[in-house]
Amino acid sequence: MAEKAPQKIRREAEKLRREIVRHDRLYYEEAAPVLSDHDYDLLLARLVEIEERYPCLRVPDSPTRRVGGAPSDRFETVEHAVPMLSLDNTYSAEELGEFDRRIRKLLGRESLDYAVEYKLDGVAVTLLYRDGAFVRGATRGDGRRGDDITENLKTIRSIPLKLEGGASSGEVEVRGEAYIAFQDLEKINRRREEAGEALFANPRNLAAGTLKLLDPRQVAKRPLRFRAYRIVDPEGIGIGTQMETLERLGAFGFSVDGEARLCEGIDGATARCLEMQEARYRLPFGVDGAVLKVNDFSLYGRLGATSKSPRWGIAYKFPAERKTTTVRAIDLQVGRTGAVTPVANVAPVPLAGTIVRRATLHNEEEIRRLDVRVGDTVWIEKSGDIIPRILGVEASARPPGAAPFRFPEECPVCGEPLIRTEGEVVVRCENPACPALARARIVHYASRNAMDIEGLGVKVVDQLVGAALVAEIPDLYRLEKERLAALERFGEKSAENLIAALEESRTRSLDRFLFALGVRHVGRTTARALAEHFGELDRVLAASEEELASVDAVGPVIASSAAQFFRSAAGARLIRRLHEEGVRPPPMEMGDAGEAPLRGKRVVLTGTLESLTREEARRRIEEAGGRVVSSVSAKTDLVVAGASPGSKLRKAEELGVAVVDEAGFLAMWGGRE
Ligand code: IVH
Repeated sequence: MAEKAPQKIRREAEKLRREIVRHDRLYYEEAAPVLSDHDYDLLLARLVEIEERYPCLRVPDSPTRRVGGAPSDRFETVEHAVPMLSLDNTYSAEELGEFDRRIRKLLGRESLDYAVEYKLDGVAVTLLYRDGAFVRGATRGDGRRGDDITENLKTIRSIPLKLEGGASSGEVEVRGEAYIAFQDLEKINRRREEAGEALFANPRNLAAGTLKLLDPRQVAKRPLRFRAYRIVDPEGIGIGTQMETLERLGAFGFSVDGEARLCEGIDGATARCLEMQEARYRLPFGVDGAVLKVNDFSLYGRLGATSKSPRWGIAYKFPAERKTTTVRAIDLQVGRTGAVTPVANVAPVPLAGTIVRRATLHNEEEIRRLDVRVGDTVWIEKSGDIIPRILGVEASARPPGAAPFRFPEECPVCGEPLIRTEGEVVVRCENPACPALARARIVHYASRNAMDIEGLGVKVVDQLVGAALVAEIPDLYRLEKERLAALERFGEKSAENLIAALEESRTRSLDRFLFALGVRHVGRTTARALAEHFGELDRVLAASEEELASVDAVGPVIASSAAQFFRSAAGARLIRRLHEEGVRPPPMEMGDAGEAPLRGKRVVLTGTLESLTREEARRRIEEAGGRVVSSVSAKTDLVVAGASPGSKLRKAEELGVAVVDEAGFLAMWGGRE
């Protein structure tokens, strides 16, 4: 008879189940995991262990019986004919050895040959071809049912719309990973940084967020790529091994792993994994491990699968690279909105393919939590993210006399007192004359989404401000070719080009102009809505706060901020001076404005967002024409769920209200570049 579980174990299992479900949601649905894969596996392994010992605790909805994730209700649902399972993870040569022993025993074999490939750190998708033509593509979802994202996938150039090489008739289903290369992520982030927008933390978040965009035209702007590694039912089209599969996929026109190798026995496969671990930083995209697959498909039937993973394969996860380095300084950066962000300036150290010189410290609270001090030796880790984070301080190595970091009370650039707002972790400099703000405002004014002044990026702005040629935005229009040409790295030609670009910007559209002014809370969408509504600048300037708030995409926070700006001496002066320099946006032609994606929608925020404050999220929603409401009801149109979302998410799910995670939410804006 099955043994009855002690109360303590029962409670532990319940707690584990709750935890795992929460982490599944964070990982699969919100693309915002808080646990490392290893820690997650430990939780799961403990639950499996308990359930094996006490089968009475093996409840039908235990997470040990399902693959994480659920399809969202923003897309049509696709039933996967063959479930999209995932592989079990291992972290050491010993564990790989155990895997090999286990399956050899099942098969009664002395040795097995493995195909060893890189494990791409992207998003799994499945593609259906009928008579050689791409007909449908879907996400993994919960493994059984995923989202139909065909139109988004069609924008990916490395997904052939027609299979090449005399493809077979009938249905062929191909599985693989959609991903973004490092250089593309960097390019996107550089642009976002210049425009003062939040950066994508890592390529996987960007890929996941992009695939969930509702507008394929926005997806097309993101350089997603695809790599294939599987054919469902390969034997149906006469393929007998994994190595042959890769070959055939290549012949179909897919990109496949050129580093894949056939390895004899587990020793050969393990050696190859370690080689790949060393070589991984030379790859242009992120990988988080290697995958071992029994090469011979004729053995798969006998190996079978658990409800979570097939037994023919296993993932070997690379350890996240960690290093120690020393903190040389803690710098404070002042952004366009005056937000002051601390960054640790560390002794350069090679880590995960790049030389690290800086590590994020997020905010004052984080510095306090870690107790990082200048001179400290710190552990840094880069686990897929572009900018490494500080894991902790090596207390034993603290130099004598290292003092706790004191977050300054004054702006490091202009010396005015910094402002702390109740309930916000961000500290700001609110001095409109602060040179750091002026510099950031000029950069924003010239940026691509604003006045789009070619040749006027961060470096040139720094040069102009440094040479005292420009102190405020309107000074740009007084630049003279000769003075410019005399600057370092500035030739006759680039000086001429910059002057021409400035000239051209004098008649930029009203929506760009309004955005370029850098009014707090007025983003591109709001600027467009204002331009569309009022038609000309003078009418915008004359509008009362109530009139501003009556515009579709403008909520009370934005209206008050805009009215305040237009009435302020600094705002009025900026606009007057620009006028004097001949910057006059022509009246808007009706119908040029873009749509506000959340127009008229009621949105609920729940859980903690990683990259935005509540206030910022609210502003974005308002900018996009939506309204933030506090509780979920049948009238709610969308729930934005951050980490630890709680009961509102549950309620939304019960009521069938659409839910987006942070990545999906950010992607709505990332899309409008
Ligand atoms: S084979 C049963 N091969 O890693 C799943 N997966 O858990 C078989 N992945 O969900 C997958 N690179 O998203 C396979 N070369 C590769 C892969 C790969 C990345 C992902 C895939 C899968 C997860 C494994």
